[in-house]
Amino acid sequence: MTPTATLEPAIRVQGVTKSFKDLEVLRGVDFDVAPGTIFALLGSNGAGKTTLVRILATLLKADGGTASVLGHEVAAAPADVRRSLSLTGQFAAVDEVLTGKENLVLVARLRHLKDPAAVADDLLARFSLTDAADRKAGTYSGGMRRRLDIAMSLVGDPPVIFLDEPTTGLDPQARIEVWDTVKNLARGGTTVLLTTQYLDEAEQLADRIAILHKGTIIQNGTLAELKRLLPAATVEYVEKQPSLEEVFLALVGDDGPEHPEPAADADTGRSAR
Ligand SMILES: Nc1ncnc2c1ncn2[C@@H]1O[C@H](COP(=O)(O)OP(=O)(O)O)[C@@H](O)[C@H]1O
Ligand SMILES: [Mg+2]
Repeated sequence: MTPTATLEPAIRVQGVTKSFKDLEVLRGVDFDVAPGTIFALLGSNGAGKTTLVRILATLLKADGGTASVLGHEVAAAPADVRRSLSLTGQFAAVDEVLTGKENLVLVARLRHLKDPAAVADDLLARFSLTDAADRKAGTYSGGMRRRLDIAMSLVGDPPVIFLDEPTTGLDPQARIEVWDTVKNLARGGTTVLLTTQYLDEAEQLADRIAILHKGTIIQNGTLAELKRLLPAATVEYVEKQPSLEEVFLALVGDDGPEHPEPAADADTGRSAR
């Protein structure tokens, strides 16, 4: 899981800028994601996380800078990029009328895979959904539905997966289920770029965490590195480590997001392929 420094980054973002009219959302974003690792892009609501993910998934054009996925440049080789990755949006793309298995078979057919039923069975097993395979997805719990959604995005085994706020709106038990799923993905060698506004999620999952604030990455490091940015507070005899939340608030301040929220978030698309 820990890659050596000599490996090419799976995702490379250099100087990416993006404005919507006169709203500068991304003002020069830079980071690399090593293959087989989990990278968390942490930022408040409206920070520009979805905008960046959509640029990387070739759904949106950047104004400036470059970005590549597995060496394919998003602007120059969008088809290669789309073949390399899968995107799970903030809003589940599961068809509630179909069963879990039918949802997976449908995606496998759309991707022209050889044995759609076998692909579906394998993913159902990997995501502990075998028992629920023949139930309508509409009857699934929030955690099961999100697991199915992630399973659907893994049809065809993309080496890179983007998860845009994978646990927003889930209850605590379902969040833990999704976290386990994501950890297993990385263990299996998949590169995961995850966006979140939850500090504990980044803390739980990520090999590296980058904080997106006011259009740029203001910090990028391992959890331990970020924690070292703040000196441990000493209370009488007990030394307290700063939590990621304290580090985040110290860096970002508590002035909230810079931009107002859009009327409707556009990231409903599940797959970029
Ligand atoms: N298509 C769009 N047109 C205009 N403004 C947009 C559009 N998409 C996003 N924005 C604005 O860009 C900012 C960042 O949005 P977004 O990337 O969705 O943030 P996040 O995913 O971090 O919550 C917000 O202020 C939002 O209102
Ligand atoms: Mg978003």
